[in-house]
Amino acid sequence: MTQLRAHAPGRVNLIGDHTDYVGGLALPVAIDLGTTITGSASTGVIELQSEQLGSRMHLDVPVNQQIGTIEPSWSRYIAAVAREMDCREGFTGTISSTLPLGAGLSSSASLELATALALGFDGSTLELARLGQRCELAAVGVPCGLLDQLSSAFGREGHALLIDFATTSIEPIELPGDIEIVIIHSGVERTLAGSAYGERRTACERATALLGPLADCDPNALDRIEDPVIRRRARHVITECQRVRDAVAALRSNTIETFGRLMVESHASLRDDFEVSTPVVDALVEQLIAIDGVHGARVTGAGFGGCVVALTRPGAIHDPTSFTGRGWKVRASGPASVELITD
Ligand code: GLA
Repeated sequence: MTQLRAHAPGRVNLIGDHTDYVGGLALPVAIDLGTTITGSASTGVIELQSEQLGSRMHLDVPVNQQIGTIEPSWSRYIAAVAREMDCREGFTGTISSTLPLGAGLSSSASLELATALALGFDGSTLELARLGQRCELAAVGVPCGLLDQLSSAFGREGHALLIDFATTSIEPIELPGDIEIVIIHSGVERTLAGSAYGERRTACERATALLGPLADCDPNALDRIEDPVIRRRARHVITECQRVRDAVAALRSNTIETFGRLMVESHASLRDDFEVSTPVVDALVEQLIAIDGVHGARVTGAGFGGCVVALTRPGAIHDPTSFTGRGWKVRASGPASVELITD
C-alpha cells in the first residue's frame, strides 16, 4: 500500500526574538529535530496515534466542532489545519516527534506544517507558513508571528535564515563549518498561551503606533515614549534588530566571537528590557558562557522558560545532557517536505 511521510523541522532562533510580529529581523535555523507523520488517506475521518504522548485522536471531517473543545488537546492543531484546508478526505497514521514539546523549539509549528503536508497541502511554501500561523491562533489562541512557521517551511541545510518580516524576505546565510549549535532545556516548562506573549505583542504594537516601524527606528526616538514599560519593550526590539544585522555581518566576516557577544547582549535585552527570561534560564546562560570554547548563549524563542541555545567551538560541550538532563547538538536542516513511501 502506498503511504506518505510528511516531516517538518523545528527551529532554533540564533538571534532576533520578539521581533517577528512587528516587522523586525531574525536569524533562525531549521533543525534536525522535528515532527513526522506517516500514514495514508482515508475516508471522512482523521485518526492519528501520537507515539510521543501515547494517545490517539479521532476527528470527523469536514471539521465542524469548536476547535477549543477538542480532546486530546494536541489534536486541536490537527483540527485547525484540517478546517483551514477544508479537508474532506481524511488520513490515518502515526505522529512521531523528536522535539521537546513547549520548549521554544517550535514543536507546534512543526506539527502544523507536517499535518498540512500529510493532508495534501498544495499551495506555495509561503502559504504553508501562513496557514500554520493561522492554525496556531485557532488551536490555542496564540497571536504568534511567522518566525516558527517560516523557519520550518524554508529551512536550508548548513544555513541560518535571515528573515525580514517587514517584507517576508528570506536569505539563507551559510554557517561556518567549525561551530556547533547546542541546545539545553532549562527544565522550566512553558506554554505560549499561558504566558504574557500577547501582552508583549500589544506593547510593541503601541510603541510602533508612536514611533513607526521599530526595525528602522533610531534609538534616540525612544525618549518620545512616556510609559517606561512600553519604552523598554521597544528598546529591546530596536536593539535586537540591529543585533541581527550585526550578527549576519559577523557570520559573513567569520568573526564568530562577535556573533557570540551579540547573543549574550540579546539575552540581556530579553531579560532586562523584554522581561521574558527566568532566573533558572539566566543561570544556565551564565554557566554556559563561562565554558571555554562557548562563543555565546541566549534564551531562544518566546522565553518564559524553555531552551537556551549556545554556539560553540566543536567539542566545547561534550555532553549537552549533562546540565539539566535534556540537551541536543543540532544541525541546520532542510525544509518541511512530504514523500511517498511504498512497502
Ligand atoms: C514564539 C512565536 C514566534 C516568535 C517567538 C519569539 O516562538 O511563535 O512567532 O514571536 O516566540 O521570537
